[in-house]
Amino acid sequence: MVLGGGEERGVVDESSKKLYAHYVVFREVRTMVESSTVHNETLDLLYRRASLRSFEDRDIPADIMARILEAGTHAPSGGNIQPFSIIKISNKRNIEKFVDLGHQEFIKDAPVSLLFCIDWHRSRQWCDMEVAPFTANQAFRHFWISFQDTIIAAQSICVAAESLGLGSAYIGTVTESYDRIKEMFELPDGVFPIVLLCLGYPASSPKRQNKFGSEVIVHEEKYKRMDDERLAKAIKEKYPGRELPVQPNDRRLETLLSVCEEVGGEDLKKACEEKISKTGHITMAQYCFGLHYRADKVPKRNEEFLEYFEEYGFAWFKKYVPFKER
Ligand SMILES: Cc1cc2nc3c(=O)[nH]c(=O)nc-3n(C[C@H](O)[C@H](O)[C@H](O)COP(=O)(O)O)c2cc1C
Repeated sequence: MVLGGGEERGVVDESSKKLYAHYVVFREVRTMVESSTVHNETLDLLYRRASLRSFEDRDIPADIMARILEAGTHAPSGGNIQPFSIIKISNKRNIEKFVDLGHQEFIKDAPVSLLFCIDWHRSRQWCDMEVAPFTANQAFRHFWISFQDTIIAAQSICVAAESLGLGSAYIGTVTESYDRIKEMFELPDGVFPIVLLCLGYPASSPKRQNKFGSEVIVHEEKYKRMDDERLAKAIKEKYPGRELPVQPNDRRLETLLSVCEEVGGEDLKKACEEKISKTGHITMAQYCFGLHYRADKVPKRNEEFLEYFEEYGFAWFKKYVPFKER
């Protein structure tokens, strides 16, 4: 961890005392992790992991694949109902269809991709068979739990794969292909795709990303708001030198300012412009929420997604009407 020069020499001037206090808090947590004698392979694996986007041209042996998939079936699940399914895609032509839909090119290099879906179709069938009442596809609570179940199973598979020397990358942009996926994979009503996971052997070691540490993420007993200074320090540590220098006639700046104007009016646009002209760069927050996940565009699609849910046989966002009132 990088500390101020004064701190290293044991000399702390008045002006940096407040900041120094934060360094100490951060350092204590780090030191505790780094000096701990608690070590095992699972922890090493969890700390070392990184998304893999370059895969060796090598198939995953069937027994290895079976062991990895099995890990997903052992994941915790609300009520142990396991309302999820995994579509295993290893046929190159099927995965290329994804790439043709505009998804990232590297997907086609992975020997296997797994499409994780919420699955209330199987539970409905089960209820029909046993003459049980069924409204899970109409209830937010069921949707919420099944979403978590699906992701937890995905992450168990991800960790299992890493433990056997493979790597993986999640692809969240399946959201961009909801108009095609139902038909492409013959998904019955009640089956909703959440995320794709590309799996394979690493062609090279993926670069680990900096993360907010537990000193930022974990709150003791109750939520503690961070002051701006402390958050700024955490951001600086996570994204050192990652700001985007603004060039003359920078299109990104133009876009960012128009996003600010749409979202927060002239005041936000002006404030953003002033901040950038002072520092000469676009910050990571401005990049993440103004250029990458564009704050003006993202919420406009809410209704479109509700329509997709309906198309896929879900109605948790609608008023439930009991049988005798229909
Ligand atoms: C829900 C989810 C969706 C993601 N979607 C994509 C994606 O579409 N394309 C991609 O390259 N990486 C995707 N990722 C990977 C993230 O970019 C990655 O986890 C993040 O940059 C942190 O890097 P790390 O996984 O190496 O720690 C996704 C990750 C998650 C959890």
